[in-house]
Amino acid sequence: MELKNKVVWITGASSGIGEALSYAFAKEGCKLVISARRESELQRVKTSTNLTDDSILILPLDLENHVAAPEWVSIILAKFGRIDVLVNNGGLSQKGTAMQTTTEVERKIMEINYFGNIALTKAVIPVMQKQQSGHLVVTTSILGKFGLPFHTTYAASKHALYGYYDSLRMELKPFNINVLLVAPGFINTNASINSLNADGSISNQDSPAQMNGMKTGVFAKKLISALKRNKQHIYIGNKELLAIPFKMLLPKLFYTIMDKMSKGK
Ligand SMILES: NC(=O)c1ccc[n+]([C@@H]2O[C@H](COP(=O)([O-])OP(=O)(O)OC[C@H]3O[C@@H](n4cnc5c(N)ncnc54)[C@H](OP(=O)(O)O)[C@@H]3O)[C@@H](O)[C@H]2O)c1
Repeated sequence: MELKNKVVWITGASSGIGEALSYAFAKEGCKLVISARRESELQRVKTSTNLTDDSILILPLDLENHVAAPEWVSIILAKFGRIDVLVNNGGLSQKGTAMQTTTEVERKIMEINYFGNIALTKAVIPVMQKQQSGHLVVTTSILGKFGLPFHTTYAASKHALYGYYDSLRMELKPFNINVLLVAPGFINTNASINSLNADGSISNQDSPAQMNGMKTGVFAKKLISALKRNKQHIYIGNKELLAIPFKMLLPKLFYTIMDKMSKGK
């Protein structure tokens, strides 16, 4: 697809992957709608894109309040009249044993990573159907393809996105609406620091995997390249991506190693 002048709505744009994507789409000549909860951070990102007010809209939102999704879409339509790409990227991670993780934390993660995500998609689809074109980009995770000890709910939320969007893709094909599922490996963001502990408190602890992960600018370039080529699915990361073929080809060994990892914690 050609990206110039396209209207792109990015969630989770106040930091990390979403912030880098905002700069990358701006460079491609797109008009942007940037969303997250922290308006001051969105303002900072807006300034760094160098886009003028007629080309960028700050739309603060909390994905937990996803009943408001149709209103958010109306605000975008009032400004730009169309939505060409929705980048459903906002999300929250979780750490802690399954048994210690409270139901409130489990529900919060699912509300943000799954129900909030699909609510935006369902609010945008009628717009794209009317346009007879559109792209839905969804940030899942390699943890949408296999589990990791102490990340049960997060992995469940990302697995759910695979089931939903792999099915939806086929429903939307007649309307010329494409779905691109993007599975990051370890990307150098604050995702670990921002993740929730079992009791709902914020972790505030980085992880070595995240610290040594791929830079967000590199990630953004790869995602945009996949979008331009109308890809349906892409993994983006470094050697951690080897876990995917490893699980498929040598499942017994894969589970033995994962088991050892969990005992080492
Ligand atoms: N970094 C990785 O290694 C990695 C790996 C696999 C998948 N991912 C996925 O990539 C996506 C982006 O994460 P990141 O790595 O860039 O981490 P990040 O820097 O922590 O960014 C998360 C973004 O989501 C937003 N967000 C969180 N809760 C929200 C809510 N309730 N409502 C609206 N926005 C919310 C945050 O903004 P506010 O706090 O301002 O709301 C922030 O902009 C997530 O879906 C994550 O699961 C990341």
